Amino acid sequence: MSTLPSTNPYEDPESARLYDAENSGREDVEFYRRLARELRDAAAGGAGAPFTVLDIGCGTVVLGVDLAADGHRVIGVDPAEAMLQIARTRPGGERVTWILGSADAAPEGEADLAVMTGHAAQQIVPADAWRTLLRDAHRALRPGGMLAFESRDPRRRAWERWTPESTRGTFPHPDGGEFTSWVELLEVDESGADGVVETHRGVTEREGSARRGAEETLIFRPLDVLRADLESAGFAVEQVCGDWSGGPITDATAELILLGRRP
Ligand SMILES: C[S@@+](CC[C@H](N)C(=O)[O-])C[C@H]1O[C@@H](n2cnc3c(N)ncnc32)[C@H](O)[C@@H]1O
Repeated sequence: MSTLPSTNPYEDPESARLYDAENSGREDVEFYRRLARELRDAAAGGAGAPFTVLDIGCGTVVLGVDLAADGHRVIGVDPAEAMLQIARTRPGGERVTWILGSADAAPEGEADLAVMTGHAAQQIVPADAWRTLLRDAHRALRPGGMLAFESRDPRRRAWERWTPESTRGTFPHPDGGEFTSWVELLEVDESGADGVVETHRGVTEREGSARRGAEETLIFRPLDVLRADLESAGFAVEQVCGDWSGGPITDATAELILLGRRP
């Protein structure tokens, strides 16, 4: 079964072009780079051994290029051609192997580490598609390999702060000058057993003209659902962190960061 969403806002070339500007200054990149370095150093051959990272939902692959610069072999999969276009033309992008598709398109049993960053996991909303993706990620890992991803903790109810006023920001435009963007929250459904599902849309404004982006639907799965889904897919949950410095989950946790090992 395909795990691709029926509508993926990242297939819109204009949204893909603005993605990096709107998502600069990220704390997660260093967390995943450090994790890859530590796992490689702990692996059988140590620091000099080949180490393969699979980046699922790699997008414009800010992380993948850094991982390749760290000496890892990197495979990036993403169903959005518009995002891969940006990734391919990024300096250093030629060092990454790109595949248009999802985790089921990745080679079997080759990855030492698979990552899903930028809250890509929250984009795979239907429970069957999410569970299929986890099984595909498991298959793509070699025995002993690790899957790492983050998902926003629903207890923090981030969607309640996704108002035009609190999300408004101004960024450099790739064609020069600046653009302003904000989020419009469209719908929240708290009735599902697997988590809260919300739909929003990004709006961008440049030189007085506003453009509404495609709708994006995200699921906020609680920790117990994420743990159970990982375990059903065959992973042993090895670590759960609540922030990018690797701290524990607390009542103030914004991110649920999970590390599951393929036994
Ligand atoms: C918010 S972006 C994150 C991109 C990148 N990982 C980052 O950290 O910047 C989410 C990405 O997930 C991709 N995506 C959506 N559904 C997917 C699926 N079923 N399998 C793999 N990637 C998917 C989208 O195309 C998009 O590029």
